[in-house]
Amino acid sequence: MASGDRYRAVHARSLKDPEGFWAEQAETIDWTKRWDKVLDSSRAPFYGWYVGGELNACHNALDRHVENGRADQTALIYDSPVTDTKRSFTYLELRDHVARLAGAIAAQGVGKGDRVIIYMPMIPEAVMAMLACARLGAVHSVVFGGFAAKELASRIDDCQPKLVLTASCGVEPARIVAYKPMLDEAIEQARHKVSKVIVFQRPQGPATLVKGRDLDWTETVAAAAPHGCVPVRATDPLYILYTSGTTGFPKGVVRDTGGYCVALYWSMKNLYGVEPGEVWWCASDVGWVVGHSYIVYGPLIYGSTSILYEGKPVGTPDAGAFWRVISEHKAVALFTAPTAFRAIKREDPEGKLLKKYDLSKFRTLFLAGERGDPPTIEWAQRLLGVPVVDHWWQTETGWVICGNFVGLDPMPIKPGSCSVPAPGWHLEVLDENGHPMKRGQVGAIAARLPLPPGTFPTLWNADERYKQGYLTEFPGYYKTGDAGFIDEDGYVSVMTRVDDVINVAGHRLSTGQIEEVLGAHDDVAECAVIGVADELKGQVPLGFVVLKAGVDRPDREIANEIVQMVRDRIGPVAFFKSALVVQRLPKTRSGKILRGTIQKMADNQPWTMPATIEDPVVLEEIKDGLKAAGYAAKG
Ligand code: COA
Ligand code: AMP
Repeated sequence: MASGDRYRAVHARSLKDPEGFWAEQAETIDWTKRWDKVLDSSRAPFYGWYVGGELNACHNALDRHVENGRADQTALIYDSPVTDTKRSFTYLELRDHVARLAGAIAAQGVGKGDRVIIYMPMIPEAVMAMLACARLGAVHSVVFGGFAAKELASRIDDCQPKLVLTASCGVEPARIVAYKPMLDEAIEQARHKVSKVIVFQRPQGPATLVKGRDLDWTETVAAAAPHGCVPVRATDPLYILYTSGTTGFPKGVVRDTGGYCVALYWSMKNLYGVEPGEVWWCASDVGWVVGHSYIVYGPLIYGSTSILYEGKPVGTPDAGAFWRVISEHKAVALFTAPTAFRAIKREDPEGKLLKKYDLSKFRTLFLAGERGDPPTIEWAQRLLGVPVVDHWWQTETGWVICGNFVGLDPMPIKPGSCSVPAPGWHLEVLDENGHPMKRGQVGAIAARLPLPPGTFPTLWNADERYKQGYLTEFPGYYKTGDAGFIDEDGYVSVMTRVDDVINVAGHRLSTGQIEEVLGAHDDVAECAVIGVADELKGQVPLGFVVLKAGVDRPDREIANEIVQMVRDRIGPVAFFKSALVVQRLPKTRSGKILRGTIQKMADNQPWTMPATIEDPVVLEEIKDGLKAAGYAAKG
C-alpha cells in the first residue's frame, strides 16, 4: 500500500478549511435549494451543516439515478438463505415500490416531521419503508428485531410515532420470531397510543391483524397512489436511532439529512473504494447504524448495488455462506463485524470452504462494530489475500471516525489499529483532567468540535442530555466514550469503552440497562453486571446478584428466572445467559461497586486490590464464585 500523502493532504485541508472542503463534497448531491451557509456555528456547541439548503434523501438514493441512466441497474439484491429466496430490484423498480409505499403512508396522515417506527426483519420491505419515510420527509426510527416489547415500548413513548410499519415475523435459523405479538404488547405497554400499523405478512408466520388499527401492507400499497419526494431542510432529521447509553433508557441519536448524504457519498468512494455500478455488501442489520448507512443510504445515494442478506455467517447453511454471496453476486467489498469472522474461523479454520468459490472480483474486507482483534484480522488477510480494514464507528457518528481510506490513498495496515481519522475528525487523547496526552499513552479519545457532516447534531428531544453526555466533561470536545491511544504515525487504536457500554457480537448494550432488569426481580437486593471476554462474541454479559434477606429458594431457580427476565425485557440479542448469586458485592468505602476489578478477575487479567475497598474479603468470595462457575479468576 502507498504512502498516505494524499490522505494527509485531504485530512489537513478538512481541518483547515472545513467549509471549503465540505462545500466541494456537497456537489455530489442533488439539492432543491442550495445552502446559505456550509457550517453554522452561531449556536455552538450545537452546529448545523448546509444551513438553508434543501434536498430529499430518497430522491438522492433513487429518483436521480432513475433519471440519470441507472433505471435498469440493480439497486438491491435480497439474498435470504433462511427462507431460500433471492430477489433483485432495479433502481426503477425500487423507486416505484417506494413511491407507492410512500403514498400508502401519506394516506395514513403521515407527513414531514412525523415519526414512523419500523420494526422489521431483513427483507426488502424494510429498506422500502425507510426510503418511503425519507421520501415524505417523515422521520423513521428503526428498532432492531432482536429487542423485546419493553424496549420497543420505550422507543414508542420517546419518539411518539404516528404509524408503525412491521412484518409478521422474522426468520432466525432455528426459529420463527413472531414480531407482531411483540409489537402488540409494546403498544399495550406504551403510554403514547399508536393508532395505525401496517403489517407485511410473511408466509413463514402470518399475523392476526387488530381490527381498526392494523392494515395489510400488500392491500394498502396496492390501493395507494405513488407519492413524490418532499424536500426537507438539510438540518431536518432523516431518522432517529436509539442506542444504549449509560442509563437504562436508550438515547435517540438524531441524524440530519444534508450532511449525512454528503458524508456517505464521500465515504463510498474514498473510504470503501467502490465505483458506482459495482456490487457492495454490508452484512449488518437495518436495525443498526451500520445498516442504515451502508445497506441503505450510502450505496444507493452513490449509485452502487447493495446486498441485503437475511442469514448468518455460519449455519445458513455453513461457514462458506459469505464466500457464496460474494462470488454469486460479484461483490467487490464486504463490511461486517469481526465476530462474524471469528464465527467462520471457528467452524472452518483452514478456510476449506473458500476453495469452492470464485472471489476474483473481491477487493477489500472492512470490519467494525468492535475492536478488530489482530488474530482475526491476520487470519482473514491470509485467507482472502486482500486488505482487511478495521474502522471505528459509533451510532452517534453515522459514518467512520477512523479508517484506512483505500479509495483515496491506501496506507499500511497495522493490525490492532483502526488507522487514521476521517476528514473533519480532529482527535486527541485526553487525561482525566482534559489535558492532551503524549503519543502512545492510553486515555479518553475526544474530538475537537465541530464534528464533520453526517454526525449527530443532538439527541431526540434531549438537547441537555446531549450536552451533558458528550460535550461537558471536556469543553470544546466530543467525548467518544472510548479509550485508546494515537501512535507516532497518527494511527489510532481503540481499546475499550470508558463507560458501561459493552459490545456483544457487534451489538451495543448497556450493563446499566441489564442491571435495571436484574434489580426488578422480587428476590434481588443488589446487583452488578459486567462484560466478560468471549472468544466468539467479543464480550458477553455476566450478572451478580445479592438476594434479599430471608430468601431461601434455590440459587439456580432464581438465576434462571433472571436470565428469562432479561430475554423478555431486553431481548435475546442481549445474550444474557448467567447470573451468579453472591453474598455481597465488592465496594469502595464510598459505596461504588468495583465492576472493573470483577471484570479483570473474570477475564483472568492481572488485578490489584483497590486501596479504597471497603472489605477485601468480599473480592475473595467473588473470586471463588467465579472459579466455581468456570471463569478464570486469577489472583
Ligand atoms: N430478530 C430476532 N432475534 C434475533 C435477531 C433478530 N433480528 N438477531 C438475533 N436474534 C436472536 C438470535 O436468534 C439469538 O437468539 P437465541 O438466544 O434464541 O439463539 C440471539 O438473538 C443472539 O443472536 P446472535 O447475536 O445473532 O448470536 P448467534 O449466536 O445466533 O450468532 C454471530 C453469532 C457471531 C454469527 C452473530 O452474532 C453475527 O453475525 N454477528 C454480527 C453482528 C453484526 O453484523 N453487527 C453489526 C455490526 S457492523
Ligand atoms: P455502535 O454505536 O453500536 O456502532 O457501537 C459503537 C462502539 O463500538 C464504539 O464506541 C466502540 O466502543 C465500538 N467499536 C466500533 N467499531 C470499533 C473498532 N473498529 N474498534 C474498536 N471499537 C469499535
